[in-house]
Amino acid sequence: MSLTQKASTGFSFFFLVNLICFASPSSSATDTFIYGGCSQIKFLPGTAYEMKLNSILASVVNSAMFTTYNNFTVPGSSGGADTLYGVFQCRGDLSGTDCAQCVSRAVSRLGTLCLDACGGALQLDGCFVKYDNATFLGVEDKTVVMNKCGPSIGYDSEGLTRRDAVLSYLGTSDGAYRPFRVSGAGNVQGVAQCVGDLSPSECQDCLSDAVGKLRASCVTSIWGDMFLAKCYARYSEGGYHSQGHDHDDDDDGDDDLDRTLAILIGIIAAAALLVVFLSYFKKYLCGDDCDIKGGK
Ligand SMILES: *[C@@H]1O[C@H](CO)[C@@H](O)[C@H](O)[C@H]1NC(C)=O
Ligand SMILES: *[C@@H]1O[C@H](CO)[C@@H](O)[C@H](O)[C@H]1NC(C)=O
Repeated sequence: MSLTQKASTGFSFFFLVNLICFASPSSSATDTFIYGGCSQIKFLPGTAYEMKLNSILASVVNSAMFTTYNNFTVPGSSGGADTLYGVFQCRGDLSGTDCAQCVSRAVSRLGTLCLDACGGALQLDGCFVKYDNATFLGVEDKTVVMNKCGPSIGYDSEGLTRRDAVLSYLGTSDGAYRPFRVSGAGNVQGVAQCVGDLSPSECQDCLSDAVGKLRASCVTSIWGDMFLAKCYARYSEGGYHSQGHDHDDDDDGDDDLDRTLAILIGIIAAAALLVVFLSYFKKYLCGDDCDIKGGK
């Protein structure tokens, strides 16, 4: 295969990645960034760890077209520290296309945010993606990861009553397994969800905890977000879809910045993928005695 052929393969790949990432630019609030975090420990680029991570992330993106939750495990060669785990969870009301789009954006943002980190987690409005080589699948984790409260409602006792009704519904068990909950009273709306790897009782326990913490920290706030490591609860006046940035005074500037950043990150991620793809391809073609930097 000639160099030009390789380059054109690379180019269509680049194009495809961009197409996936920007098929319908900022059409919904699902891409709104909530939080992201990476492990301190880094892996060496070009090692088996990177290959496994790429395969986990590719599986996550593919699977999101067909289901709103899935988990993945890539066993290590020695069975121990190099086993990799991955999970994604879409908001319960997303369609397959919206879920797939949200997850692919989350994965491309993780690629730049957590470059070479052994573990990473990212929550967008519509989906959650996490990977690590430490076991976290099926483990209930109620660590507060992100908590924000809006401005105070003031002395609006009716508003607070409605808010409390919404929160009670979100946090209370009716005996059924409900990992995704939506609730509304008047103009107050709420949403809560846990990641699909929790058992029904762990899910309930996590949601009760999130709602309790949300109530305690956002006492009289007009909106509030409480994200624990494995579940979250949120409420707002006027709908949870438009909360967060929309309550800031400078939301237009923020949104523009987000969009520019997202495009930039997408391009960088695509370029990084291209490099990985080409070097892998080259190794595959000419074996180990191939000099990556040779280019001939
Ligand atoms: C994850 O991988 C890193 C790098 O190989 C290693 O130092 C660390 O101990 C591993 N963590 C776990 C929990 O196995
Ligand atoms: C992980 O996925 C497998 C099959 O996809 C499923 O059987 C298993 O219950 C899942 N594990 C957890 C902890 O959700």
